[in-house]
Amino acid sequence: MAIQKVGVVGCGLMGSGIAQVCAQAGIDTVVREVGPEVVEKGLTGIDKNLARLLEKGTISETQRNEIRGRLKGTTSLDDLKNCDLIIEAIIEQLPAKRELFSALDALCPASTIFASNTSSLTITELAAATKRPQRFVGLHFFNPVPVMKLVEVVRTIATDAEVYEHMVDFSAKLGKTPVRAHDSTGFIVNRLLVPYLLDAVRALEEGVGSIEDIDNSMKLGCGHPMGPLTLLDFVGLDTTYYISNIMFEEFHEKRFASPALLRRMVLAGWNGRKAGRGFYDYSDPKNPKVMKF
Ligand code: 3HC
Repeated sequence: MAIQKVGVVGCGLMGSGIAQVCAQAGIDTVVREVGPEVVEKGLTGIDKNLARLLEKGTISETQRNEIRGRLKGTTSLDDLKNCDLIIEAIIEQLPAKRELFSALDALCPASTIFASNTSSLTITELAAATKRPQRFVGLHFFNPVPVMKLVEVVRTIATDAEVYEHMVDFSAKLGKTPVRAHDSTGFIVNRLLVPYLLDAVRALEEGVGSIEDIDNSMKLGCGHPMGPLTLLDFVGLDTTYYISNIMFEEFHEKRFASPALLRRMVLAGWNGRKAGRGFYDYSDPKNPKVMKF
């Protein structure tokens, strides 16, 4: 059951990255978005990434053209019906994802494997919207997808063992390192990452250190590529807040409770890099400045 054609639903930051790595791995890839302008935006981002790889000599012009030739954008779900695997990377909302999977279930043959890139929702609950829970896994990629080496391959109590192993192999074929995780909210990475990020905000709230000093501590003291507050801006404060709320609801543990400052910043729309401001001001994106509170 080789995966020859992949459908990706959602061509935002994660979906476009997933589509890019699939096409780079030699797989025909169809990426679907709701409107033509969103498809175009996602494909333009991929073109920029490929141009950078070409410029650096990582790929040749022929390879760039082949990769691009394997990628097709569409607004029609119908174009995904003959895919061997469909990876969903749409908005992180349960009703929207369940509705999508239910529609795909009616459209695709019984052999198609479904995967969700959700970071916080339960795979079991998404799979339950289909008649194929045994052919349903989580494939959780990390931002920026073309760079980050990890994929969490998530199995539920209903996932077929052969399908699961197939998805582990598929993730490796994409050039990623797969890790095996059970369908526990947040899987492995967010179980560890979210309390860390929330603690960094608590440390700031409590005056333990300044924004810069908290970030530099973890960068220079622990070798992290980004400090936690920079990473929060990168991931999105709204996204982290949303994930933390789901995790708190699931585990009822204080470590997943969102600090007041994070909630205030989200309410103010200071959602990080994409909003132009978070813990840093991104008016000049190449030279972020620490925000004053
Ligand atoms: N797309 C494609 N390539 C990118 C990229 C992007 N968005 N951003 C950077 N790159 C590439 C660059 O081209 C460069 O490639 P090269 O080494 O071949 O020249 C390489 O990545 C390094 O980029 P830069 O030199 O510009 O910058 P950095 O060295 O600071 O690296 C970074 C940028 C890779 C983002 C690094 O800072 C990093 O690893 N940060 C941590 C990211 C992280 O933790 N991500 C996970 C977030 S959690 C998540 O996604 C899960 C969710 O559920 C919350």
